[in-house]
Amino acid sequence: MLKSIAVMTSGGDSPGMNAAVRAVTRTALHQGVKVWGIRGGYHGMLDEEMFEMQSKDVSDIIQRGGTFLGTARCRRFATPEGRMLGYKNLVDRGIQGLVVVGGDGSLRGASILSQETGIPIVGLPGTIDNDVWGSEYTIGCDTAANTIIDAINKLRDTASAHRRTIVLEVMGRNSGWLAMVSGISGGAEYILVPEEEYDLDEMCEEMKAAYDAGKRYCLVVVAEGAGKGHEIGKIIAEKTGLDTRVSKLGHIQRGGSPSVIDRVNASRLGEHAALAIISGLSDIVFGFNRGHVVSINLHDAVNNKKQLNPEFMRLARVLA
Ligand code: F6P
Repeated sequence: MLKSIAVMTSGGDSPGMNAAVRAVTRTALHQGVKVWGIRGGYHGMLDEEMFEMQSKDVSDIIQRGGTFLGTARCRRFATPEGRMLGYKNLVDRGIQGLVVVGGDGSLRGASILSQETGIPIVGLPGTIDNDVWGSEYTIGCDTAANTIIDAINKLRDTASAHRRTIVLEVMGRNSGWLAMVSGISGGAEYILVPEEEYDLDEMCEEMKAAYDAGKRYCLVVVAEGAGKGHEIGKIIAEKTGLDTRVSKLGHIQRGGSPSVIDRVNASRLGEHAALAIISGLSDIVFGFNRGHVVSINLHDAVNNKKQLNPEFMRLARVLA
């Protein structure tokens, strides 16, 4: 049994990270284990920005987006010297195990740290992109998808009023999950994702024919990894002559109060992570499979690429 652990958030923030940290903290305290909070991701580990947390330190945060611990992407941690310094700072405080909440890159860093130093590490998938291999869910993806849907609903109002084509660019540098689920649930005619090739010429011809047949407006959702919204919008306008407007949701989709799903899932994952690390388990990530919490090998999680469910792509085409 470990007696002292630390928890941190890393990489892009996501709604529900706070619920995860709260659950890790309170579960550990419930087990009589000390919990340290690390501020600002791996930066805080290197710069000794760590504090011992009590239950009250995580009160009044479950409803907040972002991460109260702060987060960052840390170049220094990518070097062996950086990681050794981080490890030393943990050991100096008597910290025996670490819970890292973050996306692909953050979990990769955690995996290397544990391999190099042997310190037990448990990961939780925290990213709006929902692209961590082995889990059907990542903390924050539900809130982000709902934020996008809210924007789509509004865009549809104005698109229909003006008989316009709207191109909406959403996040997803390497993953089309957000674009796909928000596009399907927002009734988009076209959903462009990095996982699938698309033919803009064909799309424009179809679109023009649909307008000629009386279509009032059209919605195209594009994941940032599949192309730039304004470039796609320009091509559509040129090729079809249709009145076209482009919106980019940007970081709005990363903030906001977490949904019920993100709060509950993050709380469940946080409890599992705390109990696992306290019992000395290491090199695992907790995620969801068919609605159940499952453990995934950390090495596998960071060395495999999650595929976009082909059923989504099929459904999107059928319903367009
Ligand atoms: O959180 C993941 C992500 O949303 C990516 O889809 C996106 O490309 C990236 O973050 C942008 O984040 P930042 O502006 O923090 O670099």
